Parts: sequence; structure tokens; C-alpha cells
Amino acid sequence: MKEDTKLIAAGRPHRRPHHPVNPPVERASTYLFPTYDDFTEGAKNIVYGRLGTPTHRALEEAVNLLEGGFETRLAPSGLAAVNYALLAFCRAGDQILAADSVYDPVRKFCDGFLKRFGVETIYYDPLVGSDIEALLSPRVKVVLVESPGSLTFEIQDLPAIAAAAHRSGARVVADNTWSAGCFYKPIRLGADVSVQAGTKYLAGHADLLIGTLTSADEATARAVFQTLLQLGSNVSADDAFLTLRGLRTLKTRMARHEETGLKLAKWLGKRAEVERVLHPAFKSCPGHTIFKRDFSGSSGLFSILMKPLAAGQIKAFFNALKIFGVGYSWGGFESLCVHVRPQNNRTAEPWTEAGPVFRLSAGLEDADDLIADLDRALAAMAAAK
Ligand SMILES: Cc1ncc(COP(=O)(O)O)c(C=O)c1O
Repeated sequence: MKEDTKLIAAGRPHRRPHHPVNPPVERASTYLFPTYDDFTEGAKNIVYGRLGTPTHRALEEAVNLLEGGFETRLAPSGLAAVNYALLAFCRAGDQILAADSVYDPVRKFCDGFLKRFGVETIYYDPLVGSDIEALLSPRVKVVLVESPGSLTFEIQDLPAIAAAAHRSGARVVADNTWSAGCFYKPIRLGADVSVQAGTKYLAGHADLLIGTLTSADEATARAVFQTLLQLGSNVSADDAFLTLRGLRTLKTRMARHEETGLKLAKWLGKRAEVERVLHPAFKSCPGHTIFKRDFSGSSGLFSILMKPLAAGQIKAFFNALKIFGVGYSWGGFESLCVHVRPQNNRTAEPWTEAGPVFRLSAGLEDADDLIADLDRALAAMAAAK
């Protein structure tokens, strides 16, 4: 069966004479056991709400299928999922290597929380490839890859990084939120843990936060699960249910996000106001050749580097948008556009471009309507000072 077919069936109730299409929401803290023996043996891991209910297991099964892993576990947000994956493999005195383009709140966790507990983070150029070797040592326990980076979209050479990391005894954690697991398979390319902010494309409706951690093998999965248990991590059954519902339409939505994203990026690339399109499917994006080798497609999130603008022009652009929402996050059915500032979060490779960067998340609206919205905003920008 093809992945599209498997995703429709994954985590659904097993055939009984009469059953609902979707697994129902099972809300529980306490589970009751009919006998003392049942209690002491536990019933298929479903023993207490914090360890998950059948609703959580159903989502985990479906995401694991999508990511091609050994086991998937859930976290209360994408940020929590990345941070838990790091916590699972480090102790005081260890080092982490993280891409300079990594999601900024993860950077704050590394430079704040982990530093207080004696873990040091070293940031590397996302285009480092096999030269990561020079930064590896027995102290490095995790390499954190985010490909593409979610502001500037550099694509990393995950197979080369993973090979070097594994030779040195480090694990590789990959943030796979951008591809939603549809266009990129980090575990197949050497990652030990593939993490997603399911908040974005998996849930797909901008109404919940959730994270997923998919481990490549049993030992990694055990370390991840023990970390979640010891930290008391929990996800509501309602959010797990909604995310699984989102997954049923994921492939269809991603095809549309991809098509609209490409259409918008092509149109913007021809505009005189735009210096460069930062979209992995475009030659102008660093790492584009690796994208062509390792990805089967693109999602709807990309940025444009604008020619230098006055503050009033930036304001006029955003205030003129009528369809694009101005707000954080991405991956929902609605299009978004935000002014991002990569210069604030780089240390290994400072961002020195003069113009502002606008990030767009292509939603499911009609692409021509979205282009008209951008056209209107660019006209307002040109008229402003
Ligand atoms: C690449 C990436 N990873 C992780 C996260 C964190 O996800 P959440 O908002 O669910 O914590 C985000 C959120 O924007 C993100 O862009």
C-alpha cells in the first residue's frame, strides 16, 4: 500500500462488528482493573492517564508510520518535543551541536536552561555538511538539525552530518516540522529522533499545540520515553484526537500548500522589490542541491528577502494585507505573513543582509486571491515612506 492509503487507516479501531470510524476521545487519569493480577500485570501499557490512553496510542501509531520510526511519543508542544529530545541524551559536562538557524526558543532553552545544568551548546553553520567532523568530540552527545531552518531555509546535509555524528558516538535529533513528514524522512537519512511541532501541519487548523518524537530504534525510544515520564509530560486526549483527525487530510493539504507556496514564491521572485526568494525548491536557496537529493517536495512555508525598506514601508505592507493574517506560527489552513529578524538569533554565521525578511505560510485559499493580496500590499508599501 502507498503511504496515502496507510495514513487513512493508521490508528483506526480494529474491525469489530460495529465501531466508529475514528478512535473516540478517551479521557482518563485513573484506569480500574477487575482483579489484583490484572492490576499488577498492567493492561497493555494503558495503566494511568499520564502514560497515554488509546487515543494517544492511535496518533502515535499513525505518526510513527509517517516518519518510518520504531516508536512515536507525544509532547505538549513542538518546543517541548525538541527540548525533551535534547534532555534525553545529555548530562552535565556534555556538549550539544545545534544549527545556527535553529528555532530561536530552542536556542534560549540551550543557552539558558541547559547551560545552568552544565550542558554547553555550540552553534554551527547550517551548510557545514561533513565538516561538522571538526566540531565533534566525545563530549558532544547530540547534534540538532533543523532542515530547512524555519526563517532562512538553508537545507542541511543530514546524511553527512549523521554519519560523522554516529562515528563520534553522538545522536542526531532532526526537527522535521517543515516537511510534516510528507516530503522528508530524517530517520531514513540517519537521524535518531525525528521531532515535529504537530501544532503546524499535522494538526493543521491553528487551534492546538502538540509535539511528536519519533525514535529510530528501541534504545533511543526507551531513553525518550523515560525522559517524558520523569518530566511528567502529558498531552490532552482531545488534542491527540484532533491531531489524528488532521492527519487524515495531511497529504491532500500538503499538496495544496506546496502548489500555492511555489506559485506565490515564483510570483514574488519576479518582483523588483524582492532581493531573493528563500524557498528550498529555488536555486537561490542555500542547500538547494541537497534539497533535490533528499526531499520529495516542499511545504508552504518560505521567506523573501526584501530590498532595503523604511520602517513606514514595512508597516504599510503589513497593514494593507487583507487575506494573509499577521501572526506567529504556520501550517494551518489560513495564510500568514510575518516580519522575522534572523539577525537577532545568529552567532556562528551572522545574518548581514540589509533588507527585511518576510516569512509567508501559504494556506489553502485560492492562490490568485493571495497574489492579489500581496500585490495590494506591495503597492501600499511603495506609496509609503
Ligand atoms: C521549526 C519549529 N520547531 C518547533 C516549533 C515549536 O512548536 P510549538 O509552537 O508547538 O511549541 C516551531 C514553532 O514555530 C517551529 O517553527
